[in-house]
Amino acid sequence: MIYSLGMKKIIRVWDLPIRLFHWFLVICIVGSFITVNIGGNAMEWHAILGYCILALIIFRILWGLIGSHHARFINFVPSPKVLLSYLSGKTKAGLGHNPLGALSVLALLFSVGLQAVTGLFANDDIAFEGPFAKYVSNGTVEFLTSIHHQNEKILIILIATHLCAIFYYQKFKGESLIKPMLLGDKEIDPSEEAKYLPSDLGQASKDGGLQRGLALFLLSLIAVVLGYLITS
Ligand code: HEM
Ligand code: HEM
Repeated sequence: MIYSLGMKKIIRVWDLPIRLFHWFLVICIVGSFITVNIGGNAMEWHAILGYCILALIIFRILWGLIGSHHARFINFVPSPKVLLSYLSGKTKAGLGHNPLGALSVLALLFSVGLQAVTGLFANDDIAFEGPFAKYVSNGTVEFLTSIHHQNEKILIILIATHLCAIFYYQKFKGESLIKPMLLGDKEIDPSEEAKYLPSDLGQASKDGGLQRGLALFLLSLIAVVLGYLITS
């Protein structure tokens, strides 16, 4: 969807599924850190939030293959060449994730996914263990639990970097990335159009009932399969 508001071009960049994915992910991750610090019975909630995060990440990976334009990995994961040319200032910005941002997105998705998967096998040495721990050896449980611990630090660093980058764009580049992640659209002023590739200004993400319905169907399917595996 692209339209003009006065002189400005309004372009849909983040479809509703991506935005919901993002903000549910934030809520669940904050929740999983809170619950693990409370411990005890709250570990049940730590696990439930972890399953939600796992479902969200699986959804995001699929959406990266079949989702709308700016959601697709093909359209934002850079080749080494594109990355180098971006870093040397030769390439113009795109509307979606920039080549460097793309790497941080991939790192975040990977680290969050790893945390959720290793959690399924983790054991707290007291009273709680993930639902798949019973299928593997004690050594494996210990190993995956230690990854769950180590990766916690990496995840915190990635999230802190993520927030710093967003703050940097806001403060020093005068660009709010948060508003598009909330409402979906980027507003391009005529004076800014030269910053972007002309072809990119014509690329909006489809965000209609069909896309949203498909996303809801996918997420439901993932939740059912995951729920079955976890409870059986
Ligand atoms: C992305 C989702 C998750 C995040 C961000 C997360 C985060 C954490 C953190 C920060 C800790 C504390 C580690 C420490 O004590 O240093 C922890 C511990 C733990 N997590 Fe997760 N977790 C996630 C998913 C899961 C899942 C899905 C399960 C199981 C179903 C799980 C089970 C556990 C267990 C059993 C511990 C206790 C380890 C211990 O106390 O030694 N986690 N998790
Ligand atoms: C638990 C903490 C967070 C995690 C794990 C996280 C993760 C992510 C991920 C994976 C993306 C990529 C979106 C996609 O294409 O799928 C993203 C983008 C984004 N996030 Fe977060 N996020 C977190 C917190 C926040 C917070 C608190 C804010 C706002 C203050 C925020 C603002 C944004 C924005 C603006 C983008 C889009 C960046 C761009 O334009 O390229 N995130 N985040």
